Amino acid sequence: MLNVKLFHIKKFIPMPYEEALAPRLKLAQSRLQNGTGEGGEFTGWVRLPRDCDRTELDRIARAAAAIRADSQALVVIGIGGSYLGARGVIECLCSPNYNLRKKTTPDIFFVGNGLDADALAEVLELVGDRDFSVNVISKSGTTTEPAVAFRFFRRKLVEKYGREGAGRRIYATTDKSRGALKALADQEGWETFTVPDDVGGRYSVLTAVGLLPIAAAGVDIGELLSGAGEMMDACTAEGCGENPAWRYAAARYQLYRAGKSVEILTCFDPAFRFMAEWWKQLFGESEGKEGKALFPASVEFTADLHSMGQYIQEGRRLMFETSVRFGPSAHQLIIPRDEQDGDGLNYLAGKSLDFVRDRAAEATLLAHTEGDVPNLVVEAGTKSAASLGALIYFFEYACGLSGYLLDVNPFNQPGVEAYKKNMFALLGKPGYEDRRAELEAGLD
Ligand code: PA5
Repeated sequence: MLNVKLFHIKKFIPMPYEEALAPRLKLAQSRLQNGTGEGGEFTGWVRLPRDCDRTELDRIARAAAAIRADSQALVVIGIGGSYLGARGVIECLCSPNYNLRKKTTPDIFFVGNGLDADALAEVLELVGDRDFSVNVISKSGTTTEPAVAFRFFRRKLVEKYGREGAGRRIYATTDKSRGALKALADQEGWETFTVPDDVGGRYSVLTAVGLLPIAAAGVDIGELLSGAGEMMDACTAEGCGENPAWRYAAARYQLYRAGKSVEILTCFDPAFRFMAEWWKQLFGESEGKEGKALFPASVEFTADLHSMGQYIQEGRRLMFETSVRFGPSAHQLIIPRDEQDGDGLNYLAGKSLDFVRDRAAEATLLAHTEGDVPNLVVEAGTKSAASLGALIYFFEYACGLSGYLLDVNPFNQPGVEAYKKNMFALLGKPGYEDRRAELEAGLD
């Protein structure tokens, strides 16, 4: 079971802050459990792992099986909460080199998460003449980036399979009734999956948003949900000793109050990169409001110890680290002996790479703590669908608690609208004429 270890923050924040924060955590807990806090209408994810719609899950499994049977590539179109979770889980469990591996599941390409023409053109080319399907994901059904990418891939599908054939290869994950995507899906008869009304984008990885692409990649989504379900049960407990999310939320809040302004998520597993991207969105978008909150950043160890390590050790003392640790690797690589020992590495001969990695992790933790960077350790267990499900739910729950500790609404994202409004105005979208005139005056 996941464990949060606080030993290496003790010298930085006077105990017993947990007791002092308990009444506020209890209130935050009740708001999450009962949907009575700000944004309470978006707390459907709290019970999702156990209450998810079984019929929808069966449909997801069937659609994933159909994609695996008829497609060599799956193009997943979405941005922010509509793609990061799926990419995080697939890369973490199946490998960042998933597309390069020999496998019986389709290659998976993520597009619609930016507006770069070369990136989009490259995926169009990589899909090439292969059989492919598209999973277009947008809760609002109106987001520009995925909508633009979808036009290109829809055209490619229609050119290859005709309108009807294309329709059988498009899976739309969106709101149950609102938005342009839903209207289009209904009109064209595409299979649709619903993002529940009470689950916001960045909390939606355990809905069809994440589950369909994850299942298409061959990951056992039942295991993912069952791990999340176990964590859901653990998170109903009250008290920092009993509830790991309380422990984490309390520690990071106390470090924030003690003056830290950056939280870096670290992991010694390069496959974790997109889980860290998911985590950054989760915390950044949930907490970054009203001039408050920790800035969520991430680094990959040991690679970034050779780039960002210097700053972490000796730069401005504004950060603490949350280090995610997994158990033994699937491959136990033993370092070979070399008779010449020209590289002087024979002192490691016979040792596993895990052994070396674990010593590097201990060395890093001690060095950074000595350099006044508090370290929280999240022991996530051996990497599996179940342990990742638990980790996802743990971070989501801790994020909800953290938002309420900060007195912000953890479920809205009003700041995201600012760039969109300007972009629409500059693109000449009807209805934004006044804003366009204002902006043009400010552009040189
Ligand atoms: O968390 C959120 O709500 C956002 O990050 C959204 O997921 C993101 O903006 C994409 O929105 P949509 O799914 O409506 O296209």
